[in-house]
Amino acid sequence: MRRFCVAAFSAALLVCCSSPSRKDIPVYLDPSRSVEERVQDALPRLSTEEKVAMTHAQSKFSSPGVPRLGIPEVWCTDGPHGIRPEVLWDEWDQAGWTNDSCTAFPALSCLAATWDREMALLFGRGIGEEARYRKKDILLGPGVNICRTPLNGRNFEYMGEDPFLAGAMVTPYVQGVQENGVAACVKHFAVNNQETRRTATNSVVDDRTLYEIYLPAFRSAVQDGGAWAIMGSYNLYNGEFNCHNKRLLLDILKGEWSFDGVVVSDWGGARDDDQAITNGLDMEYGTWTNGLRGAPSDSYNNYHLARPYLERIRDGRVGTKELDDKAARILRLIFRTSMSAVPHYGSFNSPEHYDAARRIAAAGTVLLKNDGGLLPLNVPKGGRLLLVGENAVKKMVVGGGSSNLKTRYEITPLDALREALPDAQVVWERGYVGDTGSSYNKVDTGQDLSDPRSPEKLLSDALAAAKDADAVVFIGGLNKSANQDNEGTDRLDIRLPYGQDGLIEALAAEVPDLIVVNISGSPVAMPWEKSVKAIVQGWYGGSESGRALADVLTGAVNPSGRLPFTFPASLEDGPLKSERQYPGIKPEGEKWWQEYYDEGVFVGYRWYSSKGIPVQFPFGHGLSYTSFDYASASLSKKQIKAAGSYSVSDSALGREAVGATVRIANSGGRDGAEVVQLYVSAPSGGVERPVKELRGFEKVFVPAGQSRDVAISLPLRSFTRFDEASHSWVVDPGTYNVLVGSSSEDIRCSLSLEIK
Ligand code: BGC
Repeated sequence: MRRFCVAAFSAALLVCCSSPSRKDIPVYLDPSRSVEERVQDALPRLSTEEKVAMTHAQSKFSSPGVPRLGIPEVWCTDGPHGIRPEVLWDEWDQAGWTNDSCTAFPALSCLAATWDREMALLFGRGIGEEARYRKKDILLGPGVNICRTPLNGRNFEYMGEDPFLAGAMVTPYVQGVQENGVAACVKHFAVNNQETRRTATNSVVDDRTLYEIYLPAFRSAVQDGGAWAIMGSYNLYNGEFNCHNKRLLLDILKGEWSFDGVVVSDWGGARDDDQAITNGLDMEYGTWTNGLRGAPSDSYNNYHLARPYLERIRDGRVGTKELDDKAARILRLIFRTSMSAVPHYGSFNSPEHYDAARRIAAAGTVLLKNDGGLLPLNVPKGGRLLLVGENAVKKMVVGGGSSNLKTRYEITPLDALREALPDAQVVWERGYVGDTGSSYNKVDTGQDLSDPRSPEKLLSDALAAAKDADAVVFIGGLNKSANQDNEGTDRLDIRLPYGQDGLIEALAAEVPDLIVVNISGSPVAMPWEKSVKAIVQGWYGGSESGRALADVLTGAVNPSGRLPFTFPASLEDGPLKSERQYPGIKPEGEKWWQEYYDEGVFVGYRWYSSKGIPVQFPFGHGLSYTSFDYASASLSKKQIKAAGSYSVSDSALGREAVGATVRIANSGGRDGAEVVQLYVSAPSGGVERPVKELRGFEKVFVPAGQSRDVAISLPLRSFTRFDEASHSWVVDPGTYNVLVGSSSEDIRCSLSLEIK
């Protein structure tokens, strides 16, 4: 007996100690094999039922893996500004965990305003690390829908009005996220530019406009950034819902751009059994199956890609070709993320993340106006700084829709200025009562913002407090409640809400040196611009928003943000003139609302500059506490042979056609950063084109008194227009001007290039 035990023990020891040789490990589990080998090995091991199960949700934010084979579930999270608090399995309310308060990074409109690819990489890395630590495989973001109207409720989640800027910024964001074994899910694909009736509106847009304005940022995310996931949008295009839109998903995304990742539906955005199967959707997520309109709880088995899919396969109505493709894509995603060969662990709430959030928020803050060098603040020791306005104290990480976050802390501007100016007396007056709400999906800021005073009393109290102040800063703007910067609703007006315009005028009448800080995620009208001396555009800055603003106001950071969209003087000046353009009409006999993109490619500054319409502040505008001279500029070539037509997938479009070198001299007294912007102006005649289009930019730091050479490469794509008839990119022959400037309206020099 004893001998048997010893023998058995030795055998067991042998089994335990000898690790299986590599050939015993199934290929799909072997990290030394390529992702494609692993996919090909895993796919045939899966049953039809297991494959179908992977294509649809099992809870609000997860879908099943293959438990039998050790293939993990896929977990998603919003995005795009931080990692959403855990919600209940089948409810939107937060689950009440106490370890899920994240670092809130700034809103994407702020990131875009940095015009700094390094900031986008820093952002992507930081949020990717937080996602990985929280064991998320897909980050639902970033969003790159173009700001077609200042009224779109989700502009704050997007990267501005220009496809080149958005494309340049989304690329490093995606790369930074994915370095952590987390898939970036770029959203919302495509032509989804308003929240009004977002699940019932068909975008009617011509191909030129689609390819030149609304697709390029997505293409950059896929082809330059290598995005592993894309989210279809709620709206329709071409009469088909975009979560299973054949043209967008099969022809363009997976066809022309060779996208090999997964297409995820927006939550409840899949609407048709057959199209969900055949038109390129890979994973169906959401609430209900009929466009978020309600259904019995636990409807997952009734999802389009669940029971209806299996039934169709079983009775032979559909084959398994699409299913194998979907399952292969999902497996690829899993092998790139949770089962990646390189283990990733991430990190959460690290000091580095809060520091990154602060740097990005400060770098995106835009100094719009600074008459007489009023800023940075100069409050004498023992002096009194008065802040007026709700946004000086309102915490705004909570709210806004699916980007709502629970953060460990949020520093308000009032807290931060008190911290930054310990020798001054920093006081606050409300001025107006806006949104007193403090919670969203049961995440609560804990603030009580109720105030019983009448508007008259609020004004007189603010004016009285201003009397003996050494400096007065109004901090107002929008917030994230309904009809402001908020998912699901659009704004009703471009003007500031809660009577702020009148309040600013009244304050300015008493305070000649009034400074205004507008916090918003979209353009607002500033009819009081001439009455105030300095204006700063802040954004939803996340956890460190107050400190970032204080950094700029006090001069600890020299502002270098630039507007990612035009601030028009009024809504009426813009390109959307009719109801059919926005918010759409419902013609007799149509099932869905129709929204006609009649303005074509003339969006944002393309419209204002081509029509010669003056704006409040142009696209690309932003001042500094120093000044920059454009000392010299040149192109590497004076002429090139490139005219002709290029197929949509031609790699030549990405190759450099010409390089520009610009010398920037810092002629002021402070170190600072300038954003050199290159706009291409095509030869006139032929197809009508915008008078200028952004095709290159670079942010360059220049110490005071020094100069730096900035090199910007212009690929062939910079000189193209999309030709609908031939479905190709065309480079017209002729003389092009490369405009070098500090904003779309501040062009410092023009260089010409002959294209033959
Ligand atoms: C939003 C998406 C979001 C999803 C999940 C949808 O309503 O449109 O952007 O990622 O919900 O929360």
